[in-house]
Amino acid sequence: MDADLIKLVNKLQDTFADLGGELDMPQIAVVGSQSAGKSSVLETIVGRDFLPRGSGIVTRRPLVLQLIHTPQPNPSTSAPVEWGQFLHLENQRFTDFAEIRAEIERETFRVAGQNRGVSKQPINLKIYSPNVLDLTLVDLPGLTKIPVGDQPSDIEQQIRKLVTEYVSKPNCIILAVSPANVDLANSESLQLAREIDPNGRRTIGVLTKLDLMDAGTNALDVLTGRVYPLKLGFIGVVNRSQQDINTEKSLTAALDSETEFFKSHAAYRHIAHKNGTKHLARTLNQVLLNHIREKLPDMKARLNTLMGQTQQELNSYGDDAIGGDANQQGALILRLMTQFARDFISSIEGTNA
Ligand code: GDP
Ligand code: NA
Ligand code: MG
Repeated sequence: MDADLIKLVNKLQDTFADLGGELDMPQIAVVGSQSAGKSSVLETIVGRDFLPRGSGIVTRRPLVLQLIHTPQPNPSTSAPVEWGQFLHLENQRFTDFAEIRAEIERETFRVAGQNRGVSKQPINLKIYSPNVLDLTLVDLPGLTKIPVGDQPSDIEQQIRKLVTEYVSKPNCIILAVSPANVDLANSESLQLAREIDPNGRRTIGVLTKLDLMDAGTNALDVLTGRVYPLKLGFIGVVNRSQQDINTEKSLTAALDSETEFFKSHAAYRHIAHKNGTKHLARTLNQVLLNHIREKLPDMKARLNTLMGQTQQELNSYGDDAIGGDANQQGALILRLMTQFARDFISSIEGTNA
């Protein structure tokens, strides 16, 4: 039932991708400065390497990542275990995750250009795997201060505008990533989150690079909520270092090291179960579900309005347009919406929202 709810919201998100997100679907957006560890967190949650890497601004379009839990396949069949699928390449299954990375790069260059600019047009990618929980995450360009190379001079404002647009939606949960080896007072993600969500109601703090803190210091006060109040709290993680990536340390090995880090650290031992990437993924899944439940009545109302508007628009084409492109497209959208609305409303009633 729970998983079905997230799947249904994902379906609505796809259907309305072209309508410019008018439905404002519940989702989790990852925000942070460049090199804070955003991509590393996403890859560890998915358990696969698939995001473009490099220096400078690598993420230049929002990546809407829908994780879809699939059952473990029967070992006697040769069906693929994990695969990715892009909304813009609907008939193609990517079982090679290096190819997913290459396609994200191609799509980024195609729309956002070669000149290091950014575009707010998202790339939609689904990942099917028995190793993920149902989640929708949005990777956003890193907040940057100084343009480098041939970046446009107003790149900071461009990115800030794009990120703000995403996280301002009341249905967006802000995953504010900050590196633990930089003073939290300078965290750009928390500064932005504070502007958008001043009461800290829909912000989750993620503290990366705990392993890189100066010897003798720790982030216990931050992780236990004594420094910066957030209703949803802070979760600490340890991702792969650059050295780990260079030596191709696997994500499974990285998860084991992370668990070991928290369990063996004198300051974190007693809060080990509330930290780490696995705990983060479970928390996000739960937060997203609670959030969807809370927003269902509102989404239902908005869906009804949108359907009414489409019907009206369709009527206004009149008989002349019958057989015309606009009319056919409108009728198709309306049919899809009616179908989804029906599923959606029955699911709402099923969850007593
Ligand atoms: P992004 O720009 O926010 O997406 O950051 P990345 O995930 O690409 O990480 C930037 C660099 O920091 C990479 O070299 C990572 O290996 C490294 N890094 C990220 N998280 C951690 C961490 O928790 N510990 C260590 N030691 N390095 C990390
Ligand atoms: Na940050
Ligand atoms: Mg990144």
